[in-house]
Amino acid sequence: MAEPAAPTSTSLQVLHNISEFRTARRQLKSLALVPTMGALHAGHVALIHEAKKHSKNVAVSIFVNPTQFGPREDFNRYPRPLEADVKKCRDAGATLIFNPSPEEMYPANIPDIVVDIPALSSVLEGKHRPGHFKGVCQVVAKLFNVIEPNFAVFGQKDYQQLRIITAMVDALNWPIKIIAGATVREPDGLAMSSRNQYLTAEERQKGLSISRALERAQEEIRKGIIQTNRLITTMQ
Ligand code: PAF
Repeated sequence: MAEPAAPTSTSLQVLHNISEFRTARRQLKSLALVPTMGALHAGHVALIHEAKKHSKNVAVSIFVNPTQFGPREDFNRYPRPLEADVKKCRDAGATLIFNPSPEEMYPANIPDIVVDIPALSSVLEGKHRPGHFKGVCQVVAKLFNVIEPNFAVFGQKDYQQLRIITAMVDALNWPIKIIAGATVREPDGLAMSSRNQYLTAEERQKGLSISRALERAQEEIRKGIIQTNRLITTMQ
């Protein structure tokens, strides 16, 4: 089989299997990765732009990872608009897209491995989504091994995920610099998320209470109020 042509910073290759991706990767010196589950929005595009500040070559992984979804979560209905995602990556200047199938990432006959940082993954969101961060660590570890990025950009919107991945990279001595990407918000303050499209008008209003609470706390901090109890009461 002919080797894929060397990607340039103006072309974009979409690769679906690990060996093809590795061949393309070998032709690039430095690479920054933006890991995603697709259904890209302006928040992801901002992460690609952030990645480009660190490396002229940017890979975007698009993979809806089954192992981070609970049995009653939205794995089957999670949006998968691949064509629109490819266009957004191209417009943002990405170099490579890695879009494997679940079988490519998790062949039937390989044993399951567990990467976990229980001290960080069992609290906050992890308390309500048992196994979620184990699945995130598992897939991100595999993506790091296949893609071999020098930099990887994760959104601050998923702050616990960002902390866990940073700790995983430190604990496993991966030579990858984790970059935090700023949260991008809708004009009304709601943090952009591929799942916002599930929200009813009423749920969306309720969701806004999070950004409003954060804004109120920020206002108080600016006025010099730093007592945690007082800030928590304001936010509640
Ligand atoms: O944040 C996400 O979209 C996912 O958790 C990630 C990091 C791509 C792993 O599947």
